[in-house]
Amino acid sequence: MSESNSLKEKVRAFWQANPCGTKFADAPPGTRRFYELVEEHRYQKEWHIPQAADFAGARGLTMLEVGCGLGTDGAQFAGAGADYTGVDLTDAAIELAQKRFELFNLPGNFQTADAENLDFADNSFDLVYSHGVLHHTPDTERAIREIHRVLRPGGRAVVMLYHRDSYNYRVNISLLRRAGAQLLRWEPGVRLVHRLTGESLESLGQHAAQLRNDQHSYLKPEEFLSQNTDGAGNPLARVYSRSEARELFRDFAEIELRTYFLNKRWLPLIGRILPRSFESKLASRWGWHLWIYAKK
Ligand SMILES: C[S@@+](CC[C@H](N)C(=O)[O-])C[C@H]1O[C@@H](n2cnc3c(N)ncnc32)[C@H](O)[C@@H]1O
Repeated sequence: MSESNSLKEKVRAFWQANPCGTKFADAPPGTRRFYELVEEHRYQKEWHIPQAADFAGARGLTMLEVGCGLGTDGAQFAGAGADYTGVDLTDAAIELAQKRFELFNLPGNFQTADAENLDFADNSFDLVYSHGVLHHTPDTERAIREIHRVLRPGGRAVVMLYHRDSYNYRVNISLLRRAGAQLLRWEPGVRLVHRLTGESLESLGQHAAQLRNDQHSYLKPEEFLSQNTDGAGNPLARVYSRSEARELFRDFAEIELRTYFLNKRWLPLIGRILPRSFESKLASRWGWHLWIYAKK
């Protein structure tokens, strides 16, 4: 098996075991209540998504979502009248997304598929949407070429990737979490980090175990980034600057970039009192989510 395929298998195994967003809902997965809680949590924490994704603007469009996860955004697109198809690398996500559409009586097509090898003809879609996915796949460039291929001329891609020049990457992950990792070597240190940051003891315990298991690998910059974005054990996450994103989308005719999202937990003292208007202003420069709007 090539290196890229074995990494892809690790990526698949991680998301199969941890379908994105399930940990935020305290209800049995696949129930109506579960989806309601997932949705409530998503749009409370990432309140910019409805505006940034423009669900209503997809009305009447044939669209593909790459890496649909639980189908939360997909349900908004389908509810707004898009002709929706969702793909994801894992069966777990596809089963949960499909269930969600069934429970809420929404039309949609689903397929377990790899973003790097899409099984759709050239020029098939008016819109391709992908939120928080392509920085987790080994060959991101190839996945973006696939998006370009399946879009019809004039069709649009809306893709969110993690942002390198963000407060989260430059300060939280690269400085604060790195310093905090030193404390995770001792049990009292784990409790101290829990009290200071509010991160769960379970999650910190997982990081402490990874650190004990292979401290050298865990602290390597690329590995540390992967481990400290979507949970301990995540095999791959990358970050992109604005210019790196432009380069990735160089085959597209028009490109617009916007950044969103400052997680309040990363701003310990001021987070709670920060007005949304100021939060948006900071996020538009230092936000963690880099949204790329590109036209074929
Ligand atoms: C962080 S979750 C995001 C899910 C959803 N888009 C959201 O915003 O909640 C990442 C998702 O990408 C999927 N994924 C990772 N690599 C993929 C690939 N090569 N092809 C398709 N899906 C992939 C994972 O299975 C997982 O469901």
